[in-house]
Amino acid sequence: MSKIIFVSNRLPVTVSKNQDEITYNKSIGGLATGLKSYHEKSDSLWVGWPGISNEEINVTETQNIENKLMNDYKCLPVLLSNKDIEEYYFGFCNNTIWPLFHYFTNKTEYEFSTWETYQKVNKIFFDAVDSIIEEDDTIWIHDYQLMLLPKMIKEKYPNTKIGFFLHIPFPSYEIFRLLVWREEIILGILGADLIGFHTYEYVRHFLSCTRRLIGLEHNLNQITYEDRYVQVDAFPMGIDYDFFSKDYDDNQFQIEAKEIVDNIKGTAMILSIDRLDYTKGIPERIKAFSYFLQKYPEYIGKVRLNLIVAPSRVEVESYELLRREITELVSEINGKFGTFSWMPIWFFFQSFTQESLIAFYRHSQVLLVTPLRDGMNLVAKEYIASRNDYDGMVVISETAGAASELGEAVIVNVNDYDAISLGIKTALEMPHEEKISRNKIMHTRLKRYNVEFWASEFLNTLERTAEESRLVI
Ligand code: G6P
Repeated sequence: MSKIIFVSNRLPVTVSKNQDEITYNKSIGGLATGLKSYHEKSDSLWVGWPGISNEEINVTETQNIENKLMNDYKCLPVLLSNKDIEEYYFGFCNNTIWPLFHYFTNKTEYEFSTWETYQKVNKIFFDAVDSIIEEDDTIWIHDYQLMLLPKMIKEKYPNTKIGFFLHIPFPSYEIFRLLVWREEIILGILGADLIGFHTYEYVRHFLSCTRRLIGLEHNLNQITYEDRYVQVDAFPMGIDYDFFSKDYDDNQFQIEAKEIVDNIKGTAMILSIDRLDYTKGIPERIKAFSYFLQKYPEYIGKVRLNLIVAPSRVEVESYELLRREITELVSEINGKFGTFSWMPIWFFFQSFTQESLIAFYRHSQVLLVTPLRDGMNLVAKEYIASRNDYDGMVVISETAGAASELGEAVIVNVNDYDAISLGIKTALEMPHEEKISRNKIMHTRLKRYNVEFWASEFLNTLERTAEESRLVI
């Protein structure tokens, strides 16, 4: 029977070793969170890196991990060496593609050795897929770490249906052209039959780069490439709406979540949740909050910013510097505005359980999501869905992919502190009925375009495109 093979750099479960103990934890980030619920419900296998180096584990441990991941999570782990992780993951993925695609050209490094390892690791992923692929399988490859994989699979399995989805922005031609290996990347992606992005803007950018760099024209988002069609389209990723919007009893929550709720009474909560990343605009958000307190002093003592930052990529120097910058800014602002009985910012540098996050969502009047650049941002959608009382309001920057779907939220320019401050005030003071009517519209959209809809739309379009290619060409 045919199956779906998901391939992504990171598996939805991260394996770590502490002394001799092996632990399994849920991975963070939009891709793993978003796709996990769909994977659990479908006939699929997931190929990816479990987040541990093969040099950290012995043969027996490797065998145990492989068995557990396959039996409990339907996952096939791709094991990488320290050098591969250093050069491919920290190097090419996170020091070249990630900053460039998020428009951080000054942080982008161009190193030939990391590019070589990127090619090598894409081949390691190919070998893993090659070991389980069967005729009629559908392959769905995810994200910027595996942009060469579609071509590798297409060359060996020309009749296989291959989809590729990019979870981060695809930048404009002016930015993308700076990449030394730009043609190779485009040709790698073009191995797919269907290429998906979160927004129409990213689709336009990709089509423009393909035309200008490879000379391929497109018609109605379709490229004729070699002897087949390649379809390019926007598929904004949704969330598991039913999971977030169902009723929870606060007593069901874990102790930490109960503490959050108990501590909140009497203060308006502004919530901010991100992975540690310079693209998320966390220092800028703290500064904007400080500006808000200065501009609207009547809020001093009345609001609190719960700033949750989940540790991520801390081995990369710029991420460690960012952590320090955030810590310093928080203490500066707490020092400046704090009183004996009130601190404006509570900073948590840790990952919370899903239940605790939902507790935070439900007890926060405002969610402040102001990334400098973000492919989608599912936190904004999760917050809205979790407020099944239709209360609360999102303040979101235009540079988050999700903003184009959340027109009823308060939308701001991330560089404009006046606008952000006013946005926070507007959200805090918005009449109850207005919040309810705005949120109801967004709920209807999030319920309809949930993660299952997203995945089915993508896979159905992939099926159709591959079929058309077979019939017409
Ligand atoms: C973003 C990327 C994902 C990535 C996640 C977490 O959401 O689109 O591909 O997995 O960040 O980052 P990490 O480097 O820890 O996998």
